[in-house]
Amino acid sequence: MSLLDSRLQTVLSLIPAGSILLDIGTDHCKLPAEGLRSGRLAGAYAADIKEGPLQAAKKQLAALGLSGKIPLYLSDGLKEIPPETLKQVTAVAVAGMGGEIIEVILDTAPAEPPLWVLQPMSAVYELLDALAQKGYAVTAGALARDGEKFYRVFAVQKTGIPYKADYFGMIRQDPLYFPFLEKEQRRVETALAGLCSAKAPDEGRIAEAEKLLDQIRKAMQ
Ligand SMILES: C[S@@+](CC[C@H](N)C(=O)[O-])C[C@H]1O[C@@H](n2cnc3c(N)ncnc32)[C@H](O)[C@@H]1O
Repeated sequence: MSLLDSRLQTVLSLIPAGSILLDIGTDHCKLPAEGLRSGRLAGAYAADIKEGPLQAAKKQLAALGLSGKIPLYLSDGLKEIPPETLKQVTAVAVAGMGGEIIEVILDTAPAEPPLWVLQPMSAVYELLDALAQKGYAVTAGALARDGEKFYRVFAVQKTGIPYKADYFGMIRQDPLYFPFLEKEQRRVETALAGLCSAKAPDEGRIAEAEKLLDQIRKAMQ
């Protein structure tokens, strides 16, 4: 049985088969462990900023008979990952964190990996805008669903060429595309109603929400 829920399974599906993965913010180490067990990954490393999650990862790997197979690092993003490890890595996953933290992790990486696979829990549009401004081309996108909750996953490669973000193009072929957009439309409509009924309406935020709603409606056509 897979160790992964649909969110992490979708993250794994965007990591090319045969990759050597570095999982940043690994916590329980489920993603690299399942990637190795299933044969999708050729190798894996994992890192976390806190000691507690690394201890949990160690226990998890021992229980799976994978002790020593996935080197674990205490590291803020990629900062403390040895250069010789970074040279081997072909894909870096950053999943289950806020978009702002993901952006900082990209900005502070001491070396640029061939591929990033990102799964933000919040600030998704802000992250997509930042990726576009910084010239990270989106090479693939996917959606995951867990009950009423949707998650977005995208793979990006740095080209250094800035572009205007297209929020939905990369998930257009996903079977969850329309259910996701319907949910997103309701969410933004509710947020907009709240912003408009505030005692001191914030015109900037209202304009942003209206713009996003317009993009969602266009994406649904
Ligand atoms: C919510 S868990 C996500 C675990 C797993 N990646 C997933 O998607 O299920 C977030 C993990 O990221 C770690 N983390 C947060 N900021 C980090 C950073 N700057 N560098 C490395 N790990 C970080 C936290 O300690 C925590 O274990």
